[in-house]
Amino acid sequence: MATHKLSLMAGDGIGPEVIAEVTKLVRWIEARGLASFAIEEDLVGGAAYDDHGEAISDAAMERALASDAVMFGSVGGPKWDAVPYSKRPEAGLLRLRKDLGLFANLRPAICYPALADASSLKRELVDGLDLLIVRELTGGVYFGEPKEVVTLENGDKRAVDTQLYTTPEIDRIARVAFELAKLRGKKVASAEKRNVMKTGVLWHEVVSRIQKESYPDIQLEHVLADNCAMQLVRRPKQYDVIVTDNLFGDILSDVAAMLTGSLGMLPSASLGAEDPATGKRKAMYEPVHGSAPDIAGRGVANPIATIASFGMALKYSLGLSDLADSLDGAIADVLASGLRTADVATRGQNAVGTSEMGDAVIAALEKRL
Ligand code: NAI
Ligand code: MG
Repeated sequence: MATHKLSLMAGDGIGPEVIAEVTKLVRWIEARGLASFAIEEDLVGGAAYDDHGEAISDAAMERALASDAVMFGSVGGPKWDAVPYSKRPEAGLLRLRKDLGLFANLRPAICYPALADASSLKRELVDGLDLLIVRELTGGVYFGEPKEVVTLENGDKRAVDTQLYTTPEIDRIARVAFELAKLRGKKVASAEKRNVMKTGVLWHEVVSRIQKESYPDIQLEHVLADNCAMQLVRRPKQYDVIVTDNLFGDILSDVAAMLTGSLGMLPSASLGAEDPATGKRKAMYEPVHGSAPDIAGRGVANPIATIASFGMALKYSLGLSDLADSLDGAIADVLASGLRTADVATRGQNAVGTSEMGDAVIAALEKRL
């Protein structure tokens, strides 16, 4: 049995509480003889700063680079508000993203039938929803140069951001989307604004070419990003994989997130380039939520976002797709049984704590295997 190298970086606030549920699950999977793991645990964020004065150490970074997948909790909190910018907790996350070259951000929006009433949309529009937004993460208008605020001679100011994409940047994100579509609904929607943006024209051209050349069996639809936003709240189930740039992806993934209810339910993955020798990608998996200082230390955080992020690691980095599907099923079973953490409990429901929820997911997984 191959041993999977997992790097665990729990971070701050509720990070350690939710990552503990992944550790528990990993130990259970091993004890059950389903897979074998080599685990490295490292500090990141404020916890690392308190320990050695940097948000991530070089040694921790080395271990992350050598792993098959990084499981990241969350970083930050008011305790570190006065820390100099380059050493702030977020610097640990930014360095991981940069050094691992994580250019593809995957944000699923899954609506568990048991939680469909928590959606901002009507139940029938979201029940069974399972879509994946693939957002380009390292290019586009957040990084393009020039990027500046200039004071003009008359005292007015002018601010510039530059939306910039090259063919290789679009090529690699499109390939990630098509590869994921192969594992899912065989359907990709590409969102841009070619009607008003040159980057949109190039995006449309490159994505079309890659589909023709390499993925003729995957259905490709082009959609203008504003229309895509509208469609997401009108009829979200028409989509499977949506691929889009950094800016539109930021917005569309937040729209999609709210179709499904709570922040405590939302997983994510970020992928880097494929190593030509091994075919493996650098990858980091993390909940969408932050360190939730308001509830940290109380054992009430919802661990499902983090457990589902680990499910994505099983599927996309560790080649354990069947186990990942069983885990998703186990989460759905637990919710269907009525168990809820406080963030998704409705009035009259007794909420369970983080650890009880983790235990329940393992028990449901056992039943499914
Ligand atoms: P947040 O996501 O930490 O919390 C927002 C609200 O959602 C809070 O009321 C929190 O209690 C609740 N919540 C979040 N996750 C939950 C869970 N798993 N179970 C139950 N309730 C949950 O966002 P906020 O408050 O804006 O930021 C808090 C800190 O986290 C800040 O220092 C921020 O910089 C950091 N942050 C870190 C991120 C990361 O590490 N990737 C992402 C977002 C924020
Ligand atoms: Mg955002």
